[in-house]
Amino acid sequence: MGSVQVINHPLVQHKLTMMRRKETSVAEFRQLLQEISMLLGYEVTRDMPLTMQRIETPLMEMDAPTIDGKKVVIVSILRAGGGIVDGILKILPSARVGHVGLYRDPKTLQAVEYYYKMPPNMSDRDAIVVDPMLATGNSAVSALKRVMEDKPRSIKFVCLLAAPEGIETLSKAFPDIDIYTAAIDEKLNEKGYILPGLGDAGDRLFGTK
Ligand code: URA
Repeated sequence: MGSVQVINHPLVQHKLTMMRRKETSVAEFRQLLQEISMLLGYEVTRDMPLTMQRIETPLMEMDAPTIDGKKVVIVSILRAGGGIVDGILKILPSARVGHVGLYRDPKTLQAVEYYYKMPPNMSDRDAIVVDPMLATGNSAVSALKRVMEDKPRSIKFVCLLAAPEGIETLSKAFPDIDIYTAAIDEKLNEKGYILPGLGDAGDRLFGTK
């Protein structure tokens, strides 16, 4: 069974509060999302396998642990997923990046796919699928279904904020996928926005409203 991990580290919680405030500027929001995503990335990579590599320090040879960042694919759910990708890439600079383009039909709240591009050799890769807001869960489920078709070695889902409804939808569709989030909020409003939330993550990240 997949787990839901709320990353309640004080730095994450403090930065999230700053992101929620309506007066936070686009530049600050962007910077904070990048910083929180580094911290979420730190947690999500906690169980990454290590291999030993023979290296030479200035003093002697030794077997030292390494991870293979190239085997990771961070899958960004467009468009706001890009904000999380930027942060995780700071700590996993050679990870590959895939994109899933989905838009939410405002009437049905269902996700419609318009773009899909992944790196090669997905079956060798550990996928970290990212979207700041797990709201209804419909976009996440559609993106995960599509990524699953490429059979990555493992899949995790990372978001900044989750609604209970989104967690339930995702966990029902994919009981084995672990979810990482900075907070679980109260509920969704009638338009599918998370309450209290932080508004439209894409608009706040790109300054489109
Ligand atoms: N997407 C957002 O950007 N914000 C929400 O509250 C819900 C979905």
